[in-house]
Amino acid sequence: MEKTLIIPAADDFHVHLRQGDLLKNVVPLVISGGAARVMVMPNTTPPVYTSLDAADYKSELQKSAPQTEFLMTMYLKSTLTETEIKAAKNNGVLALKLYPKGVTTNSEEGVSGFEDLYPVFENMQEYGLVLSIHGELPYDTGQNICVMNAEEKFLPYLTKLHKDFPSLKIVLEHVSSKAAVDFIKNSGPEVAATITPHHLELTVDDWARNFHNYCKPVAKYPEDREALRQVVIEGNSKFFLGSDSAPHLKSKKDIAKPAAGIFTTPLLMVYLADTFDRLGCLDKLKDFSSTFGRTFYDLPENKKTIKLIKEEQVVPDEYNGIVPFRAGEILSFRIEVDV
Ligand code: DOR
Ligand code: ZN
Repeated sequence: MEKTLIIPAADDFHVHLRQGDLLKNVVPLVISGGAARVMVMPNTTPPVYTSLDAADYKSELQKSAPQTEFLMTMYLKSTLTETEIKAAKNNGVLALKLYPKGVTTNSEEGVSGFEDLYPVFENMQEYGLVLSIHGELPYDTGQNICVMNAEEKFLPYLTKLHKDFPSLKIVLEHVSSKAAVDFIKNSGPEVAATITPHHLELTVDDWARNFHNYCKPVAKYPEDREALRQVVIEGNSKFFLGSDSAPHLKSKKDIAKPAAGIFTTPLLMVYLADTFDRLGCLDKLKDFSSTFGRTFYDLPENKKTIKLIKEEQVVPDEYNGIVPFRAGEILSFRIEVDV
């Protein structure tokens, strides 16, 4: 059956675009993948700490892709003052990203506890900055943490945070477990979550056998994947697209200790169309990728549109030395982007 879908270009509320040559190779692929607006993660080297860093990074990104809109974030530190937080808001920074120390790529400067951060949260709540969270508990907390339970064990801390700052907007990024899905469903309207294309597809077996499927948080059990699938199938507006596309060169993946990250940017909306169609919920794709997120972040609808056409294509083996998600597999859609 002929299936063509014309929808607004996507908003990707969580993407890693890197620096230097990697940036130059990756950023032009954002629009080809069907996203017009992307929220850029700050875990660069060095991280994006100030609104000046964010402005510099944004102008560099813009040079490589003038047609893409970049939404900026900053790396959350306990030393951020009220003046800096106010400046971030005034300079268009949308969210501050909290990384627990050591849980993923470039999180060495991350936080070890929430207590020191209370003044920062207070100011964020007052000035309307969103708290974006990588929700995994570090290994060194004496609570028998491993990659499979690190997200679930983080949730009690988030519960307290939400209770202490009820009007602070919080996004739990890249949810990967049924426990996290239930937490989001049961929390107030100020709390939402992003879902990646890969967590809708993978389970633990996929990354245990293939390091190209290794990311943080790791994909979990089939029942966790099912919980994620169910919220997109039902069109739950608390869950929206954040790809966590995280490019690493093949030489950083194809080794004994592979870097965490899955690269989905160049075919982002094609992966999602393929998955949603298979799950029988292609009609839910538009809201997932271009309504729920921008509504949460209070942004207008994208003017650009994309066309998804039901026609098979093979995922390339690599893009400039980066192996994409599902390389060599057949996807059931192709995309045309109105630029
Ligand atoms: O898999 C991941 N890769 N998860 C993250 O949280 C960071 C990202 C990266 O920057 O490579
Ligand atoms: Zn990420």
